[in-house]
Amino acid sequence: MANIKSNGYTLYFGNNALLSLNSFLIKRNYSRCFILCDENSLQHCLPHVVIACPQLGKADIIEVESGEQNKSMETCTNIWEIFLEQKADKNTLLINLGGGVISDLGGFMASVFKRGIPFIHIPTSLLAMADACLGGKNGIDFMGIKNSIGTIARPEAVFVCPPFLNTLDEHHVLNGWVEVFKMALIADKKMWNALSDITQVGDPSAFIFRSLELKNNIVLKDPLDNAQRKVLNFGHSLGHAIESLVMDAGEDILHGAAVCAGMILESHIAMQKKFITAKDYTEIKTRLIRTFGPMKTIPFDKNELLEKLGQDKKNKAGTYRFSLLKKIGACAYDVEVNQKQIFKAIEAYNKA
Ligand SMILES: NC(=O)c1ccc[n+]([C@@H]2O[C@H](COP(=O)([O-])OP(=O)(O)OC[C@H]3O[C@@H](n4cnc5c(N)ncnc54)[C@H](O)[C@@H]3O)[C@@H](O)[C@H]2O)c1
Repeated sequence: MANIKSNGYTLYFGNNALLSLNSFLIKRNYSRCFILCDENSLQHCLPHVVIACPQLGKADIIEVESGEQNKSMETCTNIWEIFLEQKADKNTLLINLGGGVISDLGGFMASVFKRGIPFIHIPTSLLAMADACLGGKNGIDFMGIKNSIGTIARPEAVFVCPPFLNTLDEHHVLNGWVEVFKMALIADKKMWNALSDITQVGDPSAFIFRSLELKNNIVLKDPLDNAQRKVLNFGHSLGHAIESLVMDAGEDILHGAAVCAGMILESHIAMQKKFITAKDYTEIKTRLIRTFGPMKTIPFDKNELLEKLGQDKKNKAGTYRFSLLKKIGACAYDVEVNQKQIFKAIEAYNKA
């Protein structure tokens, strides 16, 4: 496994990624450094980072409480206040050390503070390593809508160090695998076949790396998300709507669980449109349920779901546009989907 060259920055991958970070920092002359983390990355990952990069012993640590509910404007405001009080300047570096919540939040805060200060991602969850750390998308949730405020801004570099996964709990490991499955479904049938039993996967590094390679190939062709990059959103139109509704109800749901439900529903729609066969749909549904647990019914009102779906960024002129599988390993984007098809998929999901 090598490093990955993305759109103007390098992703350093492997057990020695923190040593690459040390060399990277020595060559740069940042005026100061803040490290953003949550209580888990602070406890489990920060000590390793400081040992590998002694100069970060002087960095200012900003800790936010873990959880999607903190990917919010309120958190940003609090941290921008700290930046201003501490006189952070244009040459101040922000290191985002944590899962996807930390990288989305920190990337967004850095990309707009003083019209943009440099930032680095050190992903520590499987989801952040395999997906969120690459591609330059940053953002927060606003007024109950996932990722409704954000930027596309590139980090200075990304450092992926798989041994950080040793302390991640099983629940969140499974959550991360969902995005790896998504990458396989949209871009690599061979990887989908290789993922038939993840309990047999000892070291996930090769799958993380392959997911990043596949994502990078797509992002390089369409960095600003105007065309084929939308395939990365497979499962996310309905997945994000479900995630937002569950959060509105004050309950917790993992991003991966919502996306998993979204992938099953959107595969049903692909089958209705005859993009994929009934056999493929059954294979996808069966594999996802076997791996990620039995399906929960979608409990809320269909109109509430449509309301949330109406906020999806891929919609055009009031019509719903989804990214739908053409077959296992290939995905179409900007496909118009109607309410009847969505309701039919939900009914099938709730019956199963
Ligand atoms: N920008 C993108 O391209 C992109 C892509 C996919 C998902 N996302 C976003 O990512 C977020 C979800 O990311 P996530 O699942 O990593 O959530 P998360 O950041 O909340 O991390 C999950 C949990 O794991 C803990 N954790 C992280 N690393 C750990 C470690 N090494 N040891 C022990 N505990 C650790 C965290 O503290 C947290 O409790 C969502 O907000 C989603 O929208 C962004």
